[in-house]
Amino acid sequence: MTVVTELMAVVCADPADLAASQSLAARLALPLVNQENLDKTSPWIFYLGYRQAGLTLFDADSLKKGGLTVDIDPRPGEQHSYPAPKKDFLAQAVGKKTQTIVDATCGWAQDSLALFRMGYQVSCIERSPVMLALIEDGLQRLAQKDWVQNRQLQLPRLMSGNAIELLPHLAETPDCIYLDPMFPPKRKKSAATRKSMSVLRDILGDDLDKQQLFEAAMQAAGKRVVVKGPDDAEPLGGQPSMSFGSKLLRYDVYLK
Ligand SMILES: C[S@@+](CC[C@H](N)C(=O)[O-])C[C@H]1O[C@@H](n2cnc3c(N)ncnc32)[C@H](O)[C@@H]1O
Repeated sequence: MTVVTELMAVVCADPADLAASQSLAARLALPLVNQENLDKTSPWIFYLGYRQAGLTLFDADSLKKGGLTVDIDPRPGEQHSYPAPKKDFLAQAVGKKTQTIVDATCGWAQDSLALFRMGYQVSCIERSPVMLALIEDGLQRLAQKDWVQNRQLQLPRLMSGNAIELLPHLAETPDCIYLDPMFPPKRKKSAATRKSMSVLRDILGDDLDKQQLFEAAMQAAGKRVVVKGPDDAEPLGGQPSMSFGSKLLRYDVYLK
């Protein structure tokens, strides 16, 4: 795992966010900079900052106009009801009768949150401290949503650390362990995921230990392991029990 945190700073644009920014910078051991003082000679490539939308990851180009947060809203085309119907490839791969899932590669939490909205009981593992801070912020925003509060839903539980070390010590055996490690760049790119995933790759690099992760998942899962990857990737565990997928990505299912 390559971590380019030496190229990253916490940026504060509003004095109201100063205390939270100081605490984040201390927690991640990153420099804290005032946005007004940044210019083209500033040495950082990535920034983390609090914005109205939540904790946001920027690259130098997106600092003034955009950035990326953990998106807690349903994906385009997803039904806004709870639980959302289990009808896409993700639901087919994890299994409609599955109840408990550990997402061992949480990242931007988009798969974890889609599974949560479908009514699965989800726990997440992430080892990047930067991604953990972004996911925690997303979960805090999710906890404020009426549809979550009114139903008193149990939010995904977030565990910090390397899943290879954490999976053998789970308190309860999950029905399914879900893996979406970083593969080398695809030959075909999906416009919808390109920005968030390419930034993640820039920060973290490829997950070179995915084979060990798969083996730890097979040991720890109760019923199945699902691996998401590009359609042209070698299956992580040899011939899967079944696969679901589209032109760009594939879910390989390994039944125990
Ligand atoms: C491709 S991203 C996952 C994207 C995610 N499925 C989503 O929907 O946003 C891979 C993430 O898994 C994390 N990861 C990879 N291997 C891990 C491991 N062994 N333990 C914990 N986290 C891991 C990486 O840090 C990265 O954030």
